[in-house]
Amino acid sequence: MIEQHIQKLIDRAAVAREKAYSPYSHFSVGAALLCEGGAIYEGCNIENASYGLTNCAERTAIFKAVSEGHTKFKAIAVVADTEGPCSPCGACRQVISEFEIPYIIMANLKGDYTVVELDELLPFRFGAHSM
Ligand code: THU
Repeated sequence: MIEQHIQKLIDRAAVAREKAYSPYSHFSVGAALLCEGGAIYEGCNIENASYGLTNCAERTAIFKAVSEGHTKFKAIAVVADTEGPCSPCGACRQVISEFEIPYIIMANLKGDYTVVELDELLPFRFGAHSM
């Protein structure tokens, strides 16, 4: 069932990646987030001269979707020009966990990809259920 969405999400993430604002790292990342109703939100990384203020592609996509009223998601794809599939950072894993995004598609521009479930991406995750 997630299989039918994989290539589309990777393609949309690759398009989003072209909008990356990454003058410091020169590492461009794109993401595409599939909402339960079928809408797709794209995101790119947005850097800042104060490096710590950088927002990753995955969080850009998630925050765009949430700010438009979406809170239920089916999958997220992340794409970069990496040797193997691009893996989400720890901060993004925690945000992905907050919204219980069940499938995470890691990909690169060469067509390699891996799909993992949330508990594989962030084992022992801390969330509302932990308190
Ligand atoms: N980056 C992302 O956009 N997503 C990740 O999961 C990993 C890192 C960005 C942040 C920064 O702009 C650049 O990649 C280098 O770390």
